[in-house]
Amino acid sequence: VITGTPGVGKSTLARLLAEELGAELVDLGELVEREGLHEGEDPETGSLLVDLDVLSKRVLELISSRPGGLLVVEGHYAHEVVPREAVLLVFVVRRDPRELKGILERRGYSGRKLYENLQAEILDVCLTEAVRRYGEELIYEVDATGRDAGDVASEMISALGSRSGGRVGVVDWLGLLEEEGSLSEFFSEL
Ligand SMILES: Nc1ncnc2c1ncn2[C@@H]1O[C@H](COP(=O)(O)OP(=O)(O)OP(=O)(O)O)[C@@H](O)[C@H]1O
Ligand SMILES: [Mg+2]
Repeated sequence: VITGTPGVGKSTLARLLAEELGAELVDLGELVEREGLHEGEDPETGSLLVDLDVLSKRVLELISSRPGGLLVVEGHYAHEVVPREAVLLVFVVRRDPRELKGILERRGYSGRKLYENLQAEILDVCLTEAVRRYGEELIYEVDATGRDAGDVASEMISALGSRSGGRVGVVDWLGLLEEEGSLSEFFSEL
């Protein structure tokens, strides 16, 4: 499972990982769009409103249809739809909010949609939700800031090889931005 705030690099890393492992790649965002597993768009942000129950059932079908097979399931709600029993490791990909801001802006995010995502990254939302669901022992948090995707993917492969979960708390964006005096810039926008 690969989760994390939009724009941190999940899809890029998932492709590399699936290729290296010979695993099937499941891009949840793409699956939701292709199979219409949503209830339309949020009128304020334009993001698709995903029905997590429906998506969970669909993911379970995909897992069950490949007994013994290896899947890489990625998306920012991946940690909400993959059952614990099916999980080898849950990667929570992190990126410095200052770098993430540029990536999301280049992608056309602005206003509420931009700042909600940056705030979610600063406040460890995906990490907290993933730990709550799976427990720390299945979590491998990885900081992709300023790193080559191939390098991050290699780290993930070796973590899988040794099943080394329990890696939580590797970044502190809140402390970093506070120290720099830029925290309020990320929270004044809403
Ligand atoms: N390690 C990296 N270093 C620098 N840029 C990267 C890295 N990984 C990905 N990127 C770039 O960051 C952008 C976002 O990456 P990607 O689409 O993989 O993110 P994502 O987490 O899948 O986003 P979403 O949740 O919206 O699907 C892309 O333009 C990608 O080329
Ligand atoms: Mg993606």
